[in-house]
Amino acid sequence: AAALIAAAVLGYLLGSIPFGVIVTRAAGAGDLRKIGSGNIGTTNVLRTGRKDLAAATLLGDMLKATAAVLIAAPLWGPEAGLVAGAAAFVGHVFPVWLRFKGGKGVATYLGALIGVAWPVALAFAAIWIAVAAATRYSSASALTASLLAPLLLLFFGEGPVAAGVFAAMTAALWLLHRENIGRLLEGREGRIGERSSPSP
Ligand code: G3P
Repeated sequence: AAALIAAAVLGYLLGSIPFGVIVTRAAGAGDLRKIGSGNIGTTNVLRTGRKDLAAATLLGDMLKATAAVLIAAPLWGPEAGLVAGAAAFVGHVFPVWLRFKGGKGVATYLGALIGVAWPVALAFAAIWIAVAAATRYSSASALTASLLAPLLLLFFGEGPVAAGVFAAMTAALWLLHRENIGRLLEGREGRIGERSSPSP
């Protein structure tokens, strides 16, 4: 149990680093929480018009979860790796540094997937890109990819524990996107890269 707790703490701390807020502020591009949707993720950084900052946010928010898994798994075993990845997701969504108002978890979900089963992460990215190419909706792309990820984990031979952990993260991700889902259903969701966007 001590190993799983250590993995959870490590994952949470890494996951709670809000790369979007940090790089946007460092570049003098404003306060992300007052721009676009007010969300701290890559999609909203793109609304500043700075693709370089969006790329840095995506990499940071993704790789912090990958790092959590790849540090915890060799030290404490594969289940600790899963716990660290899930804890990074929780850290991103509820960062103590931002009074627990964090992001929607897409990049961090993908990053954890890279650490746990990289072929499934590639499939997730391919699905995201395909839906984004067709619809230009970031949210719809993530919702679709995350819905399929637990099934893909089973298909690629990961155990039911891994599939279950990611299924729980998918449920959380959908809940976190409930406003996006509402806008999608009403046809008012902003498209990728559109400056004008849903109000927070
Ligand atoms: O899944 C994409 C999600 O991050 C949407 O972000 O800023 O449009 O709410 P945003």
